[in-house]
Amino acid sequence: MKLLDFYNQAVCCGAAADPRRKDKRKISFSDSAILYGDPKLQVKKIMVGIDIEVGDLLLADRVRQREGLDLVLAHHPEGKAYAGLYKVMELQKDLLEQAGVKKESAAKLIDDRIFEVERGVLPQNHTRPVDAARILDLPFMNLHTPADNQVHRYLEDTFKKNISRKCSLEGVVKALNTIEEYRIAGRFDTGPRVILGNPKRPAGKIMLEMTGGTEGPKDAFEKIYRAGIRTLVSMHLSEGHLKKAREANLNVVIAGHISSDTLGLNLLLDKIEKQSGEEFEIISCSGFQRVKRG
Ligand SMILES: [Fe+2]
Ligand SMILES: [Fe+2]
Repeated sequence: MKLLDFYNQAVCCGAAADPRRKDKRKISFSDSAILYGDPKLQVKKIMVGIDIEVGDLLLADRVRQREGLDLVLAHHPEGKAYAGLYKVMELQKDLLEQAGVKKESAAKLIDDRIFEVERGVLPQNHTRPVDAARILDLPFMNLHTPADNQVHRYLEDTFKKNISRKCSLEGVVKALNTIEEYRIAGRFDTGPRVILGNPKRPAGKIMLEMTGGTEGPKDAFEKIYRAGIRTLVSMHLSEGHLKKAREANLNVVIAGHISSDTLGLNLLLDKIEKQSGEEFEIISCSGFQRVKRG
C-alpha cells in the first residue's frame, strides 16, 4: 500500500468513528500527518510505537539495516501534528454537549482550554524527531485522533453491551479487563483501576474521556455532574483534574494511557488491513504491542 493511501485510509476510519455529529467527510485531523517520506512509497513493514523520539528512530534505522523497514508510525504527534494538536480539541465540544452540558457553556470551556494548550505547545521543539527522520532518510508518520476515536467508539459499544447504570465501578473495571490490551497492562501493574469513588457503588451514567487531543477543561466536571454524569472513564487524569473531579463528586476509573493508545492503534490497523486486503508486517516498540482482532 502507498504511504499516502495508508494515511488517507486512517483518516477515513478516524472520521467514521468520530464522535462529532457533523458531516464525516468534512473531518480532518490536524494532529496526524506524514511527517517525512515520499507519499508514493510502498509500505509493508512498519515499526509502530506510542511515542517516537530520536532514540526510537535510531533503533528503527538499525532494524532497517538488519532486515529492512518501510515506515515508522507513532501515535503521539510530532512536528506540525504536535503544533496542530490543539485544533482537534474542538471535538470535545461535542463530547460535552452529548454529556448534557449546554452548547454555549461547552464552547466557552473548550475554547479557553484550547487556547491554554495552544500556548503550552507553542514553545516546544516540535521538529526534533522529524529532523532525525530526515537525516536518517526514514519515512515517519503519526496517527493520533484517528486512533483515539477508535477507542472511544469501541468502549462505547463494549459498555452498551455489558454495562447497566447499576453496574458497580468494580464492574466497569471488569468490563475493561475483557479487552486484551488492558489485560496485558494488568500484567505490568498498569491495568484499569478505580481512583475515585467506592468500587462497590453503582457507576451511574458514564462519560468516556478517550479522544479529543488531550485532557479537557478541569472546570467542566461540575457541569458534567449537574448534567447527570456520575463516572468518568479516562485514559489518564492529572492531579489538578483529579482534585476538581473529587470536588465535583464524580467517580473516576482510569483505563490506562499507553494501553488505551495501543488499543486505538490496533483497532485502526485492523480496519486498514481489512479494508485494503493487505497485511502489514509490524515491529512493536515504545509501549505498543500488536493485538489483532477478527
Ligand atoms: Fe491517544
Ligand atoms: Fe496518549
